[in-house]
Amino acid sequence: MYKYKVSILGTGFIGLCSAVCFADRDIKVIASTHNQKKAEQINDGIAPFYEKGLQEIMDRLKTTNIFQCITDPVKAIRETDISMITQGTPMREDKSIDLSFIESTATEIGKALKEKDQYHLVVVRSTVVPGTTRGLVGKIVTEISGKEPGKDLGLCMQPEFLAEGRSIEDTLHPDRLVIGQFDEKSGSMLQEFYEYFYGDHLKNCPILRMNLESAELVKYGNNCLLSTKISYANEFANFAQLVPNVDVVEVMKGVGLDYRINPRFLGAGAGFGGSCFHKDVNAIKAWSKSKGYKSRLLEAVLDINDDQAIMMVDMAEELAGDLKKKKISLLGLAFKPGTDDMREAASIRIVNELLKRGVTEIVGYDPKARHTAEIELGEKIKYAKNLEDVLRDSECALLITEWDEFKELTPNDFKKHMKTPNVIDGRRIFDFDLFNKSLPFKAIGRI
Ligand code: UDX
Repeated sequence: MYKYKVSILGTGFIGLCSAVCFADRDIKVIASTHNQKKAEQINDGIAPFYEKGLQEIMDRLKTTNIFQCITDPVKAIRETDISMITQGTPMREDKSIDLSFIESTATEIGKALKEKDQYHLVVVRSTVVPGTTRGLVGKIVTEISGKEPGKDLGLCMQPEFLAEGRSIEDTLHPDRLVIGQFDEKSGSMLQEFYEYFYGDHLKNCPILRMNLESAELVKYGNNCLLSTKISYANEFANFAQLVPNVDVVEVMKGVGLDYRINPRFLGAGAGFGGSCFHKDVNAIKAWSKSKGYKSRLLEAVLDINDDQAIMMVDMAEELAGDLKKKKISLLGLAFKPGTDDMREAASIRIVNELLKRGVTEIVGYDPKARHTAEIELGEKIKYAKNLEDVLRDSECALLITEWDEFKELTPNDFKKHMKTPNVIDGRRIFDFDLFNKSLPFKAIGRI
């Protein structure tokens, strides 16, 4: 067993995926959650949410005692050498960051370290605005424990870049490791830990050591640039829709192959969603505003993204006429394929826009997100069981999430089931020429 034991404080995507990956490499891990039921489920070897590859690792760990989940964070911290804060940092009503879970976890660390004599390393891995690790976590821990970073304890900030559906893969094969350090000793201890955990993989993975605040800002730099790339592609999709025969897919391919740019995240469509992009873009925007700097770029990124929902509904109206009394079908509700996550999904903005225009009959179908969509959208729409069901007697279908099963659809499938087969491709998955000559059709970024 590895010489350092680790406590993971928070069992969401980042926390649980890291915990099981560490334990799978012979590192003793104690995870902690305040949710008793979740702890029991984890200890029974059952993944509390779906994430590719997670259950398989949990199956492997079931017969070992290298990984456990408890509901007593103070005990978890006291019995380990390194504590990682992996709590959520949700968006407040005013769109700024809510640091209350970070604050309460720092308090628990302070209480635990008060009773502990050995050196302990505290690592913030949640996404937090610059200044939080030093000014909030470090300060609270010192106030409560009487111990000082740089002397009695180490303090690091290590941002995470996991995407949902790829959390295990991204944990095991990161592009780079960013280690923000209070002092040299803290950073070296964390680097030593990852040198053990990653072994040979680190040969292809740069480790960047920097101060705490720069590391905090790297994460925002990442998510803001990815969101900006998507809004940029969507702006060009809108340009493409101003003239015939321009296709944004080809344009972005041409742009993305420039070695300085790269083709990823240039996919135009119904807009980005998910638990991070809106939250993080809004958080850093609100943070900079509180410091007296107003971000014009990020404002535009969010506005363009919101407007893609209006664009989708405009296109539906252009094709099908007044939508008010028509049955409208939504293909896909989750924020991206491969997940049932509905947070900030484009479907929510599209449903609200349709309702604003007086549409009363909206039916949605998603292969995985029916239950979560019902929680999010309630009675605003009806929920179909399958593709046939969602298309039956419909007068306009809007493709919102690019699930594989939708990619198989042919123009005939729409013609067979719909009353009038008006189709809007919001993710550019259909063959434009084929669909355009076969039925009334519009696609983002091409007329
Ligand atoms: C994202 C970041 O990728 C990850 O690094 C970070 O840690 C958390 O946020 P995630 O939200 O899981 O991950 O999903 P991602 O695959 O990045 O997609 C986000 C949204 O962007 C989806 O709604 C997707 O449909 C949209 N998107 C993505 C586009 O509209 N066009 C693209 O080209 C790529």
